[in-house]
Amino acid sequence: MKVTVVGAGAVGASCAEYIAIKNFASEVVLLDIKEGYAEGKAMDLMQTASLNGFDTTITGTTGDYSRTADSDIAVITSGIPRKPGMTREELIGINAGIVKTVASNLLEHSPNVTLIVVSNPMDTMTYLVHKTTNLPKNKIIGMGGALDSARFKYRLAEALDAPISDIDGMVIGGHSDTGMVPLASQAARNSIKVSEFLSEDRLQQVVEDTKVGGATLTKLLGTSAWYAPGAAVSALVQAIACDQKKMFPCSTFLEGEYGLNDICIGVPVLLGKNGIESIVEISLSDAEKTKMQESAVGVRNTNGLLDV
Ligand code: LAC
Repeated sequence: MKVTVVGAGAVGASCAEYIAIKNFASEVVLLDIKEGYAEGKAMDLMQTASLNGFDTTITGTTGDYSRTADSDIAVITSGIPRKPGMTREELIGINAGIVKTVASNLLEHSPNVTLIVVSNPMDTMTYLVHKTTNLPKNKIIGMGGALDSARFKYRLAEALDAPISDIDGMVIGGHSDTGMVPLASQAARNSIKVSEFLSEDRLQQVVEDTKVGGATLTKLLGTSAWYAPGAAVSALVQAIACDQKKMFPCSTFLEGEYGLNDICIGVPVLLGKNGIESIVEISLSDAEKTKMQESAVGVRNTNGLLDV
């Protein structure tokens, strides 16, 4: 199992680290355009191997895509992160060109690769990869919902004063401050709906805190978050590499599911060796259906800025 991570910034390096620590991949290649940077991060991470007990080999390269040849999975984190006060959508001008070039370079050396798109605005970048490559749709996966769901569970655990392992919840829709649709009505603590324990106002606060989860961290850190994004990517990579058929909300190309067409947006999918093994259609409340449609309008507006 060979995994390439393009972009050795904080998110890319965290992806590589968590993938290695989980010890299921034989090889991780980190690629960056900044001279020596990926090599340095790879060496630093490899010097944790004996301490953290992994056998994955991490190597770095400055822009040499031949080193990524025959990757099974590649993660695209390249591009600029947002600064405090910016939305993910504002990154489109710079990141679209980068993501398109990176995807094409990866496919030249790994035509059968499964791509995980992390660069923002993520749903639109996933759509761009769909429109500009010949990869089948099951091999193009946008990572947003897994991260947003982890943030939702964090906020629910905080509100309930409960351990996170008691909590279950999912966020679908676009990976944006306004587009996320946390499924609050279905969130549970040990199968009991959280609405049994939380007032409507407190639950609404959890939803709002979840939606601005990335922006809150960007304000605190001065750049976008990396630990939870890296951990979320590593969970998706592991589900594919180990054919786990686990369910995650991911951005995927829809053809009628959830009443949507010609768009990539977050919905529950099963991940296994074929990438997206299937899209899972769950019933939504009328309010959630409306929010999902509104979210799609936002993603389509951003897609409209693409030159495809
Ligand atoms: C975030 C970025 C990775 O939400 O989109 O932190």
